[in-house]
Formats: sequence, structure tokens, C-alpha cells
Amino acid sequence: MPSFLSGALTALSLLPLSHAFYLPGVAPTDYTIGNKVPLYVNALTPTLAEDQQVRSVMAWDYYHPNFNFCPPKDGPPKKISESLGSILFGDRILTSPFELYMGKNETCKMLCNPVEYSQHQAQFVNWRIWQSYNHNWLIDGLPAAQAVRERGKKDQQTYYVQGFPLGSVEMDDATGNATAFLNNHYDIFVDFHLVKSRLATDPKYRVVGVEVIPSSRQAKLDENAAYGASCQSDAPVVLNSEDTNAKTKVMFTYSVYWRESDTVWATRWDKYLHVYEPSIHWFSLVNSAIIVVFLTGMVAMVVVRALKKDIQRYNSFDIEDDVQDDSGWKLVHGDVFRPPKNPMLLAIFLGSGAQLFFMTGTTIVFALLGFLSPSNRGSLGTVMILLYTVFGFIGGYVSARVYKTLNGDAWKRNILLTPLLVPGIVFTVFFLLNLFLFFEHSSGAVPLTTMLALIAIWFIISVPLSFVGSWFGFRASKWTPPTKTNQIPRQIPRQGKWGGIGTGMVVAGVLPFASIFVELYFIMGSIWVRKVYYMFGFLFLCYGIMIITCSAVTILSIYFLLCAENYHWQWRAFFTSGACALYIVAYALVYWVSKLSLGGFTSNVLYLGYSCLMGFLAWVLTGTIGFFASAVFVNKIYASIKIE
Ligand SMILES: *[C@@H]1O[C@H](CO)[C@@H](O)[C@H](O)[C@H]1NC(C)=O
Ligand SMILES: *[C@@H]1O[C@H](CO)[C@@H](O)[C@H](O)[C@H]1NC(C)=O
Repeated sequence: MPSFLSGALTALSLLPLSHAFYLPGVAPTDYTIGNKVPLYVNALTPTLAEDQQVRSVMAWDYYHPNFNFCPPKDGPPKKISESLGSILFGDRILTSPFELYMGKNETCKMLCNPVEYSQHQAQFVNWRIWQSYNHNWLIDGLPAAQAVRERGKKDQQTYYVQGFPLGSVEMDDATGNATAFLNNHYDIFVDFHLVKSRLATDPKYRVVGVEVIPSSRQAKLDENAAYGASCQSDAPVVLNSEDTNAKTKVMFTYSVYWRESDTVWATRWDKYLHVYEPSIHWFSLVNSAIIVVFLTGMVAMVVVRALKKDIQRYNSFDIEDDVQDDSGWKLVHGDVFRPPKNPMLLAIFLGSGAQLFFMTGTTIVFALLGFLSPSNRGSLGTVMILLYTVFGFIGGYVSARVYKTLNGDAWKRNILLTPLLVPGIVFTVFFLLNLFLFFEHSSGAVPLTTMLALIAIWFIISVPLSFVGSWFGFRASKWTPPTKTNQIPRQIPRQGKWGGIGTGMVVAGVLPFASIFVELYFIMGSIWVRKVYYMFGFLFLCYGIMIITCSAVTILSIYFLLCAENYHWQWRAFFTSGACALYIVAYALVYWVSKLSLGGFTSNVLYLGYSCLMGFLAWVLTGTIGFFASAVFVNKIYASIKIE
């Protein structure tokens, strides 16, 4: 790539990141020297292991009895209130026994009295260490991070990666057995920044960075030390999981270091939101853009030229052309607007698809404007649920309008099923997957109260809104097609060998998928390996490109279908465009085989379940896009010919 181009791309890629991500609603907290700064603990989550494999997808509560971590000194841990989206995406934030005081360095503090690990607990913890579980702590809303240096660049920048490991594994090459070391000492480095103020009576400070360097060391009680313990030892801590009677004693210690920093509060998230390889995104974007230009160009050329010729021919009064009239899409003008089979199901899917379409679009725009930054925990999930709920109106309206147009008469059933079918399927799968988590006692299981809240939102807000939308939809005048439908259906000639729906789907699904798959890779990473995803600018462009590609591919395939005098285009359009979802599921399976080596049955069920759910929603969404694009197309071409 020419250097000026890459320079420009780098500059562009940094643009949306620098300032757009701070929501006004999140107010900074000021501390004076010596103020207690609370440290909260979140659930432990798996990350990429050393061999770049993911070995689990389940989260575990920090205070799971098998971890044996020290509880807060003043009774059982308390829940920190969180948003709905935050809970749904797995956050379980609780208080902790750590005591941090602004500006006060303290070394080797004992967290609690030494604890004993039984064999059962040791096995559990060693297994989690092997699965590369990470601690997720929060100080003043900032996640505790590990500092990482970018490799292979001249001006090496350090940036933060959220979380730090529960322990480490050492492989013995000679014997081939692995030993797990538990990190029981934490060096906590907190960056703080002096707030400039004119009334400098009482200097105020803000937390602008948190780094934790964990280590495994056998600390000892020591009466001469400042906090009653000595952390000098270099010997690592190994939990004995071999012996049935073994009890390994472990002492948890921590040190706090406060570092004055130039970083201001407003830019404290920049280090966390580092773009690892912007060139990959740009490459994929350019790649998709080329696909789109190529495709739309092709559609324009093939279809528009053919259509012009067709329309000219159909509309010319030459009688000799009668012979030529024996073929082509004009012949099915009396059938093309004949309602398809199962109009009810089609209408409901289209309604839900429209609802999803607007939800996704609006969410991405919100994210792009900086309202859903990762600094605002859980806002993405919350906003998605709220938007889906509110757009129930659109779902009802579209479903009713389509159903009426397709001459459906069971309107009561349509009104009732629209807000129940697709959300019902999603909720049922979600509920069953949670049941699995619940029986595993994983903290990823969504609490019952949250479940009830979701049902309440669904039935108290979304369903009534959908009913109102349906009412408007059924009251709206019926849409009249440009050509009359004949009484007797026309016989469909034998279709060519490659004219089947399967071929169409396989071919048509590739292109929309190609336009999103790099972003999909990063989204999967953010879901399963919990990397922060914030490249909403790219996502926005990709979403646009996907819409255009889906439409173009479907229109092209419907044109060929009609030319083959097959007028069953409605479901065909939905399936052709929805084939993109097949590729998404296939991709999830490839990711499963190549990137994940999940130990437990539950992890696998969870992964496959959520992947299918994602595929189903993508199918409804892309299918709807394809259907409406073809509907506009079919309407346009039949409106432009004269029928005597
Ligand atoms: C490692 O393997 C050797 C030989 O297979 C065995 O004697 C030893 O006990 C093992 N060590 C651990 C810590 O499991
Ligand atoms: C606290 O520790 C940090 C990091 O080691 C050091 O830079 C800073 O000067 C220390 N502060 C005090 C008051 O000793």
C-alpha cells in the first residue's frame, strides 16, 4: 500500500476513537488524599489461553465457595446495582475486602487470615487456572488491566488489556505434566490525576488508570512488617490437588501504589480502547466496498439493460414480436402478486425482521455517536432491549400491513402471534441455556428477578405496542399491485437443474457474509473472549454494505427466477437473502473447531445454543431485507409494462 494512503487510513481510523466515546451522564468522582476508594470484584471470565485457544465460555462468581477468596470484612458481599444489559451480559459486581486510600502507598497488606484449600477446591481452582480465567476488578468504574506493549512497532505504545490472570501454568517438558500457580499477591498501581481548580483549598484527585500485576508467592506472617506480613518470598503457591487429605494454606496479600498521572479524566479510557490492528478493519472494509461496487454494478448492468430491452419489447406494438413474447418475466404478470403459501408466517417474520432491522440500525447509530461506550457498563445491552421493546410498534404495523396485502383473513391470530413468535423462540432458547448454567452453579446464569423483569418488559410494554402497531397496520388502506392476478394459477415450467432454492441460497449467501465477516470475527471475540468491541464506525459501514449486498443479490436471483417463469418469489426472496445466516452459523462452527477447545458439556451447549440463536435472528433480519428489496423491484418492473 502506498505510504500516503496508509498514513491517511491510520489517521482516519483514529478519528472516531479520540473523543466521541464519553457520555455526559457518567460523572467523575473526586477524592481527597486519604479518602477510601472502593474496589469492586466482578465475575471471573475465561480468556485466550497461551495456545490461542478458548477453553471455557462460562463465568464464575468471585465468591464461589471453591475459589475461597476472602470475603469483605463487614459481613457477606453486597451487590452493586447494575443495568439490565450489564446483568444479561454477565456482570456480577460485588464489594470486596480491599482497602485503598487515595494517594497512600501501602505494601504487603494481608487481605484476610490465611485460608485452607481442600483437595476438591484445589482441583476446581487449578482447572480454572488451566482454562486461563481472568480476574475482573473495578476501581472507580475502571477495569483493572494489564499493561501490554505493542509488538513490532518503532514507537511502542503501552495499552491496557482488561483483566488479569487468576494464575499461571508451567509445563514441564521433561515429564509433560503441568503445574498451576495461584496468584495470591496483587500489586495494584492506580494512576491518579490532580483536578485543576481555582479554589485550591482542598486538592481533589481522580482515578485515571488501574493496573494490576499479580504474582504467586508464599507470604509469611511477620510481626515486624508494617501490616503484619512479609511478601519477600519468591516461592510460588501450588494448590495440592493430588492428596485427598491435603490442605494447602494460602495467604492473600496486596500492595497499592499511587502514581501521579497527566492523563485527564475525560481520556482515561483511551488506553483501554486501543485499536490492535486498524489495517485489518480497513482492509475488510475496502474489500467489502469492492464487492458492493462490483455487485451493484453487475445488477445494474444485467438487470437494467435486460429490463430496458424487455420493457421496450413488451410495450412495442409490433405484432411480429408475438413469437418472442413466449418467454420472459412478463408472462407471469397475472400470478406474480398471488399470495404465497403460509402468508401468516411470512408476515410475522417480516414484522419481527423490520423490528430487528430498526433496532440494530438505531443501536449502531447510538454507539457511533458515543452513547454506548464501554465506560458505560452494560449500556449496549440495555439500549438494545429497550429499542427492541419500543420498536414492537413497527413489528406490529409491518406484520399487519403485509398480512392484509397478502389477503390474509385470520387477523386476530396475526395480531397475537406477531409479538409472541420470534421473541418467544428467543426467550425459550435463552431460558433453556440458562437452566444449564443454573445447574452448573455458574454465575453466568441470569438471576430469576432479571428474567421476570424481561418478561414484564415484554408483556407490559412490547406486546401492547405491537398491538397498537397492528391496529394501525390493519386500518391502513390495502396496497394494490400494479397488475391484476388471474383466477387460475399459471403452470410453472420445469426449472433448470440449477434453479433450485438450495443453489440460490448457497451462491447468494456468500456475498453478504463476505461483507461482514471480519467484523463478525471481532464481535465473536468480544462475546466469547470478552475483548472490548467499540469499532462502531466500521460496524456502521459494514451494516450499510450488508444491506446493499443482500438487496442486490436477492434482486438478481429474483429476476432470474421470474425470467424462468416461476412466480413463487416471496419466500424465495426471504430464504435467498437469509442464507447469509447459514454462513454465520457455519462460521461459528469453524470458530468452535479452530478457536475453542471447551472442556465441559455445558460450555459447548452454551456456545452452540447462542450461535444458533444468533443465526436465527440474522436469518430473520437478512431475510426481511431481501424480501423488501425484491418487493420494491417486482413492483417497479411490473408497473412499467403495459398489459392489454
Ligand atoms: C510429574 O510426572 C512425574 C512422572 O510422570 C511424576 O512422578 C510426578 O509426581 C509428577 N508431578 C506432578 C506435580 O504431578
Ligand atoms: C507510591 O509508589 C509509586 C510507585 O512506586 C511512586 O511512584 C510514588 O512516588 C509513591 N508515592 C509515595 C507518596 O511514596
